[in-house]
Amino acid sequence: MNITFIGSGYVGLVSGTMLAELGHNVTCLDTNAAKIADLKKGILPIYEPGLDQYLASNMANGRLTFSSTYDAQLKESSAVFITVWTPTLESGEADLSFIFDAVDNLIPFINDDCVIVIKSTVPPGTCGKVSDMLKARNLNYAVASNPEFLREGSAIADFISPLRIVVGSSNPNAKKVLEEIYAPQTSKGFLLINTDPATSELIKYASNAFLATKLAFINEIANLCEKIPANIEELTHAMGLDPRIGKEFLKAGPGFGGSCFPKDILALSTIAKNYKTDFQVLDAVINSNKQRPSFMVEKIKNILGTLQDKNIAVLGLTFKANTDDIRSSPAIDIINLLIQEKANILSFDPEGMDNARAILKSVSFANSSAEACVNADGLIILTEWEEFKNMNFKEIYNSMKNPVIIDLRNILKRDVLTNIGFEYHSVG
Ligand code: UDX
Repeated sequence: MNITFIGSGYVGLVSGTMLAELGHNVTCLDTNAAKIADLKKGILPIYEPGLDQYLASNMANGRLTFSSTYDAQLKESSAVFITVWTPTLESGEADLSFIFDAVDNLIPFINDDCVIVIKSTVPPGTCGKVSDMLKARNLNYAVASNPEFLREGSAIADFISPLRIVVGSSNPNAKKVLEEIYAPQTSKGFLLINTDPATSELIKYASNAFLATKLAFINEIANLCEKIPANIEELTHAMGLDPRIGKEFLKAGPGFGGSCFPKDILALSTIAKNYKTDFQVLDAVINSNKQRPSFMVEKIKNILGTLQDKNIAVLGLTFKANTDDIRSSPAIDIINLLIQEKANILSFDPEGMDNARAILKSVSFANSSAEACVNADGLIILTEWEEFKNMNFKEIYNSMKNPVIIDLRNILKRDVLTNIGFEYHSVG
């Protein structure tokens, strides 16, 4: 099947490449000509483990191509997936102008049976609005919602083994085309759920909001653990054994970030307000997570005292491990607060430093995690990269001025570190 993706950002590139891997002929289109020129050379604008190999093999077999213009190749497409971004407006709502622009731009080129699939995260009712906009121009294209649930860092595995594929459309042709697109997965037993467009759109927001609620909850339980004191790791292990709770997404930390959760929960809260529904739980989650960075900095100050002119080693800049994405990263918010306290920051991240350099002007960057720790008055872990767990801590102990570790991701082993001589603090 011939498919075009409009928008070659994170979702478009992963989904487009992996649909090519499933056997479809995919064109990823983006109006950013420089990005497309790089992609044609096999250069990815993002770091996602494994994506480079799938990109290369599907470019080589001719199933994956790139374009920076809306043109004739769209005529051959049975489906056009819209994967443009939907940034947050000042009102808290998602900005849908990129979606509508994409639809405007593609309609002169597509064939009558082409299905327009909205994969970007959009408020319930957006597919309906696109259909209405088309109908007002006497156009009858089928429109469907097909949200993505890919996690950065494990997006390839998430695509290959989806927990569910959600399709929202009332149009029989749209359902048929999407069922055909995902047939390689459904034939292996992965579930495709058909629903109406608005429910499909809301499933995405509700899923992210629920997960964010779980995280805010466990972070607040961690606060309580620190006061009592009780042990958050043993507590979450015991809680997670109850399948009604589940063991995933119970890791307390410096707060949740990334390109989805903060944006999506704000959008859902605004959607609820627009429908005159008071979503109090979600508003509490938003506030709880907003306060998390300053809460973490208070904790750091309680341990290290004044931060003025102190050398702080910071390991981790990305919003989580296995990505180069620093969007809404709690690490960046915490570093900015440490700078306000006049601390000197020397940081290291395996993949996030190029992106961080652009926004953290007064931070220094080390060539390795060990180098970041030399002469430090304290070491703070902000992202759960695997390599931070395997550092040579004896060497680090000897190189630090004040061997104190504040592990805000709870990834290190207390016993090992205290045996070396470190003062070790974790979350909860
Ligand atoms: C999320 C959703 O999981 C995915 O389904 C959706 O399509 C896009 O948004 P992603 O943003 O890649 O994916 O990150 P995710 O793995 O969900 O983590 C979000 C944030 O929560 C990160 O900052 C992470 O560090 C934090 N987190 C996650 C925790 O603090 N503790 C946990 O136990 C899990």
